[in-house]
Amino acid sequence: MGDVLQEVPTSPWIKQRTPQRPNSGFPTHVRAANGLSVKYVLRVLPAGGRVLDLGCGSAPVLSQLRKHGVSCTGLEYSEDMLHHAAARLRSMQLDVGDLHRGDCRETQFEAASFDVVVCLGVISYVEDYAVVLREIKRILKPGGHALVSFRNQFNPILWDPALGLKTLARAATGRLQPETYKIGRFMDFREFRQKMDDVGFEYRQFVGIGLGPVKLNRRALLPERLSIRLSDSLAAVLHRLGWQAPLRWLADVSLWIYSKPAAKA
Ligand SMILES: C[S@@+](CC[C@H](N)C(=O)[O-])C[C@H]1O[C@@H](n2cnc3c(N)ncnc32)[C@H](O)[C@@H]1O
Repeated sequence: MGDVLQEVPTSPWIKQRTPQRPNSGFPTHVRAANGLSVKYVLRVLPAGGRVLDLGCGSAPVLSQLRKHGVSCTGLEYSEDMLHHAAARLRSMQLDVGDLHRGDCRETQFEAASFDVVVCLGVISYVEDYAVVLREIKRILKPGGHALVSFRNQFNPILWDPALGLKTLARAATGRLQPETYKIGRFMDFREFRQKMDDVGFEYRQFVGIGLGPVKLNRRALLPERLSIRLSDSLAAVLHRLGWQAPLRWLADVSLWIYSKPAAKA
């Protein structure tokens, strides 16, 4: 099942760049993470299994899963997003039911009710996100899979030498402030992994998506198309060499897959 995430997300997304955010590549990376998540779920889901898209937003993932005939429940805090989700489902002539307004920190779902919980780009919105991780574990069946993604806080520092040096100088002089909570913040994967361990999840896989863009003092050095090409080529080389670990530091979007330990016989 690992092979789905070993695919290097490249050209299909290059052509779909969103022009409003030049030189970021971020929408491209998000689409790649969404696409890989859908493929992964289709690969691991048992027949008749249930999926929850926690913080489903406008349902880009939920709609794709439903298109493939998967029973996928959606939970989302924002009323607006739920309207967008329903509109998307309607436009794709899919069922608009089983979308719920709620808080991912405390859901109404019964314990052990889902085979897979997908939670993409959501934990960075929640200050104490360990609560969300505990909730995911509660509602997952033993052996079930959790897919969690967020933006990596080391990406902007490592791809911008000026910012990197400033950060290093601040660290060396003891002026580096710990990241404070802000909605949609970039996250430290080491802290995330520690919390997953503390909650009692078992690590399965990681995929890092989007290298760069190369910047100097927050200004992009390359045109976006070239930057994405470079990112894809570099990712392909690392992939061929079997080096996933550097991507944990370098990639923009991190997709982590864990499972809830199976019940003891
Ligand atoms: C970056 S969007 C990602 C949406 C979707 N998962 C996707 O991949 O497109 C984050 C979503 O999390 C939702 N969200 C934030 N805090 C939440 C909470 N406490 N409970 C449920 N949803 C929440 C937001 O309303 C937003 O739609």
